[in-house]
Amino acid sequence: MKKLFSCLLLGCAGLIVSCSSDKINLDENPALIPVPQNIKLENDFFKLTSGTIIGLGKSNEEMVSIANYMNEKLSPATGYSLDVAHNGDIQFVLCSDTLLGDEGYRLDISSDKIEIKANKAAGIFYGVQTLLQMLPKEIKSDEVQDNKVWAIKCAEIVDKPEFPWRGLMLDVSRHWFTKEEVMKYIDELAEYKMNVFHWHLTDDQGWRIEIKSLPRLAEAGSMRAQRVGQWWMREPQRPDEKTTYGGYYTHEDIKEVLAYAKSRYVRVIPEIDVPGHSLAALVAYPELACFKAPEHVNVGNKFYGIDENSLCAGNEKTYEFLEKVFAEVASLFPDEYIHIGGDECYKGFWSKCPKCRKKMKDEHLKDEKELQSYLIHRLEKILHKNGKKLIGWSEILEGGLAPDATLMSWIGMEGGIKAAKANHQVIMTPTQHCYLDLYQGEPNVEPNTYSMCRLSDSYNFNPVPEGGSKKYILGGQGNLWCESVPTFRHAEYMTWPRGWALAEVLWSGYSENGWEKFWPRVEKHFERADEAQINYARSMYNAIVTPYKENDELKIKLGCEISDSDIYYTFDNTDPDMFTPKYEKPLSIPEGATWLKVVTYRNGKPSGKMITITIDELKKRI
Ligand code: ACM
Ligand code: ZN
Repeated sequence: MKKLFSCLLLGCAGLIVSCSSDKINLDENPALIPVPQNIKLENDFFKLTSGTIIGLGKSNEEMVSIANYMNEKLSPATGYSLDVAHNGDIQFVLCSDTLLGDEGYRLDISSDKIEIKANKAAGIFYGVQTLLQMLPKEIKSDEVQDNKVWAIKCAEIVDKPEFPWRGLMLDVSRHWFTKEEVMKYIDELAEYKMNVFHWHLTDDQGWRIEIKSLPRLAEAGSMRAQRVGQWWMREPQRPDEKTTYGGYYTHEDIKEVLAYAKSRYVRVIPEIDVPGHSLAALVAYPELACFKAPEHVNVGNKFYGIDENSLCAGNEKTYEFLEKVFAEVASLFPDEYIHIGGDECYKGFWSKCPKCRKKMKDEHLKDEKELQSYLIHRLEKILHKNGKKLIGWSEILEGGLAPDATLMSWIGMEGGIKAAKANHQVIMTPTQHCYLDLYQGEPNVEPNTYSMCRLSDSYNFNPVPEGGSKKYILGGQGNLWCESVPTFRHAEYMTWPRGWALAEVLWSGYSENGWEKFWPRVEKHFERADEAQINYARSMYNAIVTPYKENDELKIKLGCEISDSDIYYTFDNTDPDMFTPKYEKPLSIPEGATWLKVVTYRNGKPSGKMITITIDELKKRI
């Protein structure tokens, strides 16, 4: 335990609890993310002590596992483990309530009892998540260490998700993440009632899953030369260089991750990205290239359109390869879906390749897009043969969608809308709301990446297109591509709090005016993440600098996602603070100025990072 005041890793912050005198003040409402569909708070409390018992009711393996999970989450803070019995003070009740569906729950907290009711174990698990977030953060110092008492505000909650697909994707190819890190990621997303982990297992920069029938995929495709530095600018692997960076998951590793995810009601969707994004596979099996496979796995150097990274679609060996890979993947992963990628397939080599050209002629395919569609149709048949359904990125629309395919729409919502109109199921993940690899605030003070997706952009995501129907929309997910994410700490930084915003939108539903009620809860969850040593970005506090032209004059608008921020600035190369000019209206640039410096304050204290931008840079941003 880190400290006597140890906060619950999961508790909502800010409740002041004075348990020793039995006089308990719950002076703040719990900050729940995602916000429940219905919540009625009462002015009383339930006291959690070391004597509190978890009642499993109809005891089965799943109820025991949830009780163990709950103890696992509580005990680092309490120092004790709650006893488990048939009847308890915190009672799990499996019931039959049509209102709740498969994942909904009722959570009734009264002064002497807590009841979590659900149709299925998943609902009990989500009720537990809410209960854990209801627990206050602080405990009084005069409490005896081994008999801490927590007060939980009484409430009646009825809650269920808006969408069945609430996910996060982690790209483990561009950078390698251990199975322990993957499980930590799953644990963190499950705490926010997300239920899908999309595992991007293969790409040009590393093949990360053992395929026993094709051993070179892991042996040769998972390792590359060690590099740091700017992605796409890196020096390629030299012929004599050792491959010391990388790794792959064995079948045993994967089974371990799957069992872990199952205990958190998280589905795991493997992605094997074909026919493009296959450079690492071509290094392992060069005969699958149209002409000449690259000799080394890409280290983050430029190659697109120069080195081959697409499987030859004209070669029957490619289809034998796909049969083997997807049969093994299907036998390992229990979910009904397998993601086959299908995105950004470079077809420049296909158009020159004799085998590809012959295949197009033989199959009466008018262009390379139809050749891609042909390959994906065949792949769908392979998946069906193995009892699985196919998901692919937006580009699988090109040349005609496979009959039963589910589309993951990333190039805006358009592909998703088109697929839904053709009665295909859709998962919405448009870049402007869901791409967690993008900047989340002013680029000058963020680790290098590209484009912008602020926390409020993620929060303002509505998976259902305006005027459209929800019928075919399974839900959505955040995607963390890891070209510029070399460590797990940084994966957390890029994921949270945007992942919380997506979790809320996908569970509670889109709310046009929800932002102002969301960010104060995010602040409470920052405190909780601090305690759990989970990394996150505080970019929402930084100023937003927006240059624009007005009658040929360069003007600058300053703003902040957090509405009660004050913004101070300078043009004279000194650091701004609350004694320098305060931003009131769009700025004109004083003659001769070289830099604009900006900082945000809240309640008289600096809140965001100091931003320094040259005037030349501002001119370029228009
Ligand atoms: C993608 O971002 N290429 C799916
Ligand atoms: Zn070819």
